[in-house]
Amino acid sequence: MPQEPQPKRPTARRSLLFMPGDSLRKIEKATTLPADSVIMDLEDGVARSRKDAARTTVAQALTTLDFGGRERLVRINPVSTPFSRADLDATIAARPDGYVIPKVESAEDLQSVDRYLDEAERANGRPRDSLRLLAIIETARGVMNLAAIAGASPRLDALMFGAEDLAGDMGATRTRAGWEVFYARSAVAIAAAAYRLQAIDTVFIDLTDLDGLAEECRFARQMGYIGKMAIHPRQVPVINAAFSPTPEEIAQARRLVVAHDEQQAGGAGVFELDGKMIDMPMVRAAMRVLDRARAAGIE
Ligand code: COA
Ligand code: MG
Repeated sequence: MPQEPQPKRPTARRSLLFMPGDSLRKIEKATTLPADSVIMDLEDGVARSRKDAARTTVAQALTTLDFGGRERLVRINPVSTPFSRADLDATIAARPDGYVIPKVESAEDLQSVDRYLDEAERANGRPRDSLRLLAIIETARGVMNLAAIAGASPRLDALMFGAEDLAGDMGATRTRAGWEVFYARSAVAIAAAAYRLQAIDTVFIDLTDLDGLAEECRFARQMGYIGKMAIHPRQVPVINAAFSPTPEEIAQARRLVVAHDEQQAGGAGVFELDGKMIDMPMVRAAMRVLDRARAAGIE
C-alpha cells in the first residue's frame, strides 16, 4: 500500500441534487434520497417573484430538517447581481455546509463571497474556512479565467461545469455528443486537477433517458470528473453507480499498488503486469481509484 499518510477523507460528491429553493416538498424529499449533496437553489430554478419566499424556505429547511449525512449547499444568485447579497444574508445564520456560486467569471467573484464568509465565521465563532465553496464555470469568461478562479479561495472545493448556460453564452447549439462544449468540459477538468479540486459535470436534462445519463456519466468519469449534478430523484442512483469504483476496479487498483510496492522494494520502477507496462502514471491512477472508493465509503 502507499507509504504516504492518507490525507483526510475527502467529501464524496458523486451526486449533487438540485431543487428549487421555494419547494419545501422537494427539499424534504431530498433528505430521503441517496444524493451525496443537496443543492437548494435560489438562482435560475426560482422565479424572480419567488426569490424572497425561496430564501425563507431554504433557511427554514436548513434549521428544521435532518439531512442525515448529506451535504447541505445553497446556490446563490451570481455575484454580479443584486440578489446574491440578500441570498447570503437570509441563509448564513441557518448554517449551510457551503455555497454554490454560479456564473463565476473571475477570482474576485469568489473572493467577495470569501470575505463575507470570513466575517460571518468570525462573528459566529465558527472555525475559519469551515464554510465551503463550489464554483460553476458556465460562461465564456469563466472558461478563459479558469486558472485564476481555481486558485482564488482556500474554501474552494470543486469546479462544476455548466454546459447549458455556456452554450447559451457562446451562441452554440447543444448536441447529444457535446462537441460544442468539449473544450470547456476538458478545461474545467484540467484546472480542477491542477489545483487539487473536484471536477463535477453538468446536468443531464432529459429526465427520462437514464441510459443516456449513464453514458454521459461514463464519459465524464473518463475525463476525470468525480461527480455530476442531478435534477431529478431518479438520476441519483445512476450517477452514484457511475462515479463509484466497481469492486473489480478497486481490486485491480489494490493489486497494482501492491505489485508496485514490491517492485520498488526490489529496485524496479517499471514492470509488467498482465502483459501491460506499469509505471508511476498507472500507479497514481490506481491510488485515485482507491481515494474515490474511500470517499464513497466503499473501501
Ligand atoms: N429534488 C427533490 N425532489 C424532486 C425533484 C428534485 N430535483 N424533482 C422531482 N422531485 C420529486 C417530486 O416532488 C415528486 O415527489 P412527490 O411525488 O412526493 O411530490 C417526485 O420527485 C417525482 O417528480 P416528478 O413528478 O417526476 O417531477 P416534477 O414534475 O414534480 O418536477 C422538475 C420536474 C424538472 C420541475 C423537477 O424535477 C425539478 O424541480 N428539478 C430541479 C430543477 C432545478 O433545480 N433546476 C435548477 C438547477 S439546473
Ligand atoms: Mg445555470
